[in-house]
Amino acid sequence: MFNLENFDIKLNTDFIGRAFIYAEEMESTNSFLMDKNSGQHKNGTVVLAEKQTKGRGRKDRTWYSAPESNLTFSILLLKDKVLFQNINLINFAASLSVAVSIENLFQIRANLKWPNDVLLNGKKTSGILIESSSQGSKLERVVVGIGVNVNQNSFQGQFNFPPTSIKIETGKTVEREKLLAEILNNFEIYLERIKTDKKALMDDWKLRCKMIGEKISVIEDDKEIFGIFDDVDDDGFLLLKVKDKINKIHFGDVSVR
Ligand code: BTN
Repeated sequence: MFNLENFDIKLNTDFIGRAFIYAEEMESTNSFLMDKNSGQHKNGTVVLAEKQTKGRGRKDRTWYSAPESNLTFSILLLKDKVLFQNINLINFAASLSVAVSIENLFQIRANLKWPNDVLLNGKKTSGILIESSSQGSKLERVVVGIGVNVNQNSFQGQFNFPPTSIKIETGKTVEREKLLAEILNNFEIYLERIKTDKKALMDDWKLRCKMIGEKISVIEDDKEIFGIFDDVDDDGFLLLKVKDKINKIHFGDVSVR
């Protein structure tokens, strides 16, 4: 059972997580916050569900997570012009927050896989799904959904990338309250950095991305492209070098060849 008091004591933010909803069960925390009729209209609201019955991942995949063992939560961001002009970078702020929080609390190196997976010893421990809705041409609601495999002991089934959990990699049971507070504390800091110094944010992110310089393949819209992972630019796009030409990749699944 998630202890709200223990979480609250460690939360050190101005607005992220100051409105907090805890649910035993929900279809998906992202779907809940994306729904304008959910009654949630406060910037920074966080929804945590112990169990999701329709947890969703990128590219219409399903996000499986053992109930009460992990962290499955979403953060609502509202009407922030400067931030929304850089919506692509919210992915990087979120994945960096998870990686840095794991490193700070468990002294284990966390690596990042473009665009937003967090890896421990080459396996995925966290994924992020960002969704948004607009009114006219204006972005109105942005929902940042984060799944972290925390205390799950094993993973059954077929995965597009091998999964792991913090417990599997460290051998220790993790206090989820402390980890969630740390992630939200860092997320608020990195969100601000999008506005003040996006180069510094991307430099921190790239420090943890071990694929830069490697031969990779990118699957984008059912097309597979091969090349060298040259860099990630300050807007978060992957720069793929194919025969001396740089291609800007906006979305996709990356694997090392
Ligand atoms: C991915 O790696 O494909 C992204 C996974 C995102 C999962 C989280 S769990 C909380 C939030 N609610 C959802 O339905 N999905 C995200």
